[in-house]
Amino acid sequence: MTQPATAENTLPGIPGTAANEDGPPTDVVGRPLPEFPVPAPRDSHGPARIVAMCNQKGGVGKTTTTINLGATLAEYGRKVLLVDFDPQGAASVGVGVSPHELELSVYNLVMERDVTLEDVVRPTAIEGLDVVPANIDLSAAEVQLVGEVARESVLSRALRPALDVYDVVLIDCQPSLGLLTVNALTAADGVLIPLECEFFALRGVALLVETIDKVRDRLNPDLAVDGILATMFDARTLHSREVVQRVHEAFGDTLLHTVIGRTVKFPDASVAAEPITSHAPSHAGAAAYRHLARELVARGSAT
Ligand SMILES: Nc1ncnc2c1ncn2[C@@H]1O[C@H](COP(=O)(O)OP(=O)(O)OP(=O)(O)O)[C@@H](O)[C@H]1O
Ligand SMILES: [Mg+2]
Repeated sequence: MTQPATAENTLPGIPGTAANEDGPPTDVVGRPLPEFPVPAPRDSHGPARIVAMCNQKGGVGKTTTTINLGATLAEYGRKVLLVDFDPQGAASVGVGVSPHELELSVYNLVMERDVTLEDVVRPTAIEGLDVVPANIDLSAAEVQLVGEVARESVLSRALRPALDVYDVVLIDCQPSLGLLTVNALTAADGVLIPLECEFFALRGVALLVETIDKVRDRLNPDLAVDGILATMFDARTLHSREVVQRVHEAFGDTLLHTVIGRTVKFPDASVAAEPITSHAPSHAGAAAYRHLARELVARGSAT
């Protein structure tokens, strides 16, 4: 019999899950939770799969997911490139790059033909994790691109050299559905949609799905929705659980099994400018992103 989730029988790090005596554990919406194996090591790298982290709602965990999914995939031996595609530069800061000191950023990469990926990529303190940083310069690109030929595919073209070198490229989008985000969706193989577990979470998701459908129709026929990730889940409230239930009713198995709990360790790690996996490697938040990495590899969303 399926048992209700309690603090005692929840699997470490994965909120909402429940261990069962006579069957597999269940996830937050009561689905059987498969065991996602640790990905097999790789002795060569590429071709990369490109995944865009996208939701026009602000503050839902796009950047946190980009950084920590990137770091956990790197822990599993994947070669990962983070592409900061938000003029706020939060993903760059979060992996230790100071946006004011940049000579070259993703802006130069997409706007200047003679700037190559190699010119802008920087290593991070995490082995296997590189970053293409961004800063406020990128905000000009949105306007400047409007008059360009093939303005929706400049990022796709710029990232082509990454495909042979990396296993996964993660693009951190800004909270808008403007031209920069359309560029990310055009470059991507898949979209991951972080949703904060709060009352208005589903507001705007229809518009996001519509935008993804349009990009698929007109620009990128193979674009997949890799999953919806519930973030900032608070196990102490019924409310978080209700939100995830509603997401499941609306989107079915697009909702990932992995749920990210709300914990101050994430903002703490941002302040320290590092992923949670190095800031607090044994914290539940690190376990949750490792679980997400394994789930995405098992689903074929990461190689
Ligand atoms: N699981 C979590 N628990 C608690 N705080 C979190 C969690 N995930 C992210 N945060 C915090 O919430 C804030 C917003 O997260 P984040 O920057 O990842 O969202 P975002 O979607 O990238 O925002 P924006 O739309 O502004 O780019 C940050 O301060 C971050 O540290
Ligand atoms: Mg962000």
